[in-house]
Amino acid sequence: MSIKIGIIGFGTVGSGTVKILFENQALIKKRLGCPLVVKKIAVRDLSLPRRIAVPEGLLTTDVEAIIKDPEIKIVVELIGGIEPARTYILKALEAGKHVVTANKAVLAEHGRELFAAAAERGVDIAFEAAVGGGVPIIKTLKESLAGNRILSLVGIVNGTCNYILTRMTEEGLAFETVLKEAQEAGFAEADPSLDIEGWDAAHKLAILASLAYGTEVPLDRIYVEGIRDIEPLDLSFARELGFVTKLLAICRETGEGLEVRVHPALIREDHVLSSVRMAYNAFYIRGDAVGDILLYGLGAGQMPTGSAVVSDIVDLARNVLAGASGRVPPLSYQMAALSSQPLKPMEDVVCRYYFRFSAIDRPGVLSKIAGVLGEKGISIAAVIQKGREEKGSVPIVMLTHEAREAAVREALARIDHLDIVTAPTKILRIEEG
Ligand code: NDP
Ligand code: HSE
Repeated sequence: MSIKIGIIGFGTVGSGTVKILFENQALIKKRLGCPLVVKKIAVRDLSLPRRIAVPEGLLTTDVEAIIKDPEIKIVVELIGGIEPARTYILKALEAGKHVVTANKAVLAEHGRELFAAAAERGVDIAFEAAVGGGVPIIKTLKESLAGNRILSLVGIVNGTCNYILTRMTEEGLAFETVLKEAQEAGFAEADPSLDIEGWDAAHKLAILASLAYGTEVPLDRIYVEGIRDIEPLDLSFARELGFVTKLLAICRETGEGLEVRVHPALIREDHVLSSVRMAYNAFYIRGDAVGDILLYGLGAGQMPTGSAVVSDIVDLARNVLAGASGRVPPLSYQMAALSSQPLKPMEDVVCRYYFRFSAIDRPGVLSKIAGVLGEKGISIAAVIQKGREEKGSVPIVMLTHEAREAAVREALARIDHLDIVTAPTKILRIEEG
């Protein structure tokens, strides 16, 4: 007896998955109790060079043949994007196959439809690799923390952005140079704007928030800001002030609804997430019973992500052997218990802020800016003003005490129209939790 699987996609993650299945075949058999056999791997173009060698005849361009093959019990979708991935997953589920996917985009946008199709057909859909690469965050939320109310989850969830911010901060490298390296290393999405504009992190946060809170989080209700506009000057000011800059995905239970947001943020150098560098991801979770826990590891790349995909394949293969399905609900809550919890509008979020004003170097400038902030109830915690620049404009950096986002937006709209201000103010939020 063996369990046959079909894989759609043989790029970064597909090749890592197959390499692990081949190299650790004997070990996996000992854990599972029977061999896992890769019956077919679908690609777009058979003539392309491959990262690992596979036996003659294993590759195909015929995805339908995999989906219809009665011997194949588990279909693994690793092509990415919305279509045709969504259609292939639906067809595989309808054909009674269990499905493994690493595709956070399709889950964030069409999760409900896919999970409902799986439930209807009595099969499972597993997606450990969709968030955190090799870090087992999905199983942790679904299984290990099943007894906890999740109070907050703050994550560094995009390897590409963390890699770019780390190298810009530590080596002063240019954004475009480091992005190119992340693409060459296989971390970045096929469309890297998903990474740098924060949407990949938002896809992952939508999944995490659903798992943690049993609520649907539509993508357009998540506040999303990427790292494209981050300037080296702000990274170095942040450092001077004792902070590091990270793209954070945050969900937090508050008395006024769920906060769900993705944006670059300053965290203190001694914060537990500050030492998460390069393509590493981390998830800092607070549960009411467990307290604080931290999961850390490589969030992208061929082998770490392949490791997560293989863990799902083994999990589903165990279900096949046990004749079981639906034992652990895909979003951790029973489908009927999923609710639509209120989300806190970004305007109501309260945190500390970093501002960098660009202003003419003239007496009275600081008091004009401080005056507007004071009118909006924003209190200043620290100020740094640097020497004159050639164009006659100086950066003025301020840290605030806690302020409401709406007040900050109103204040900055006024400040940016003052005749002494020469460029739009740069703002970064400070995350202290
Ligand atoms: P790649 O672009 O490296 O690989 C995609 C693969 O899919 C290629 O082999 C391609 O074929 C194949 N493919 C694309 N379209 C089709 C199609 N219509 N029919 C058949 N095959 C097709 O992507 P990744 O491996 O990087 O990503 C795969 C998934 O994993 C995505 O959802 C991604 O978001 C997710 N992911 C990626 C991580 C990473 O580190 N890269 C980490 C975590 C998740 P061909 O080779 O012939 O072009
Ligand atoms: N592009 C993603 C990242 C891949 O950089 O984190 C892992 O999901």
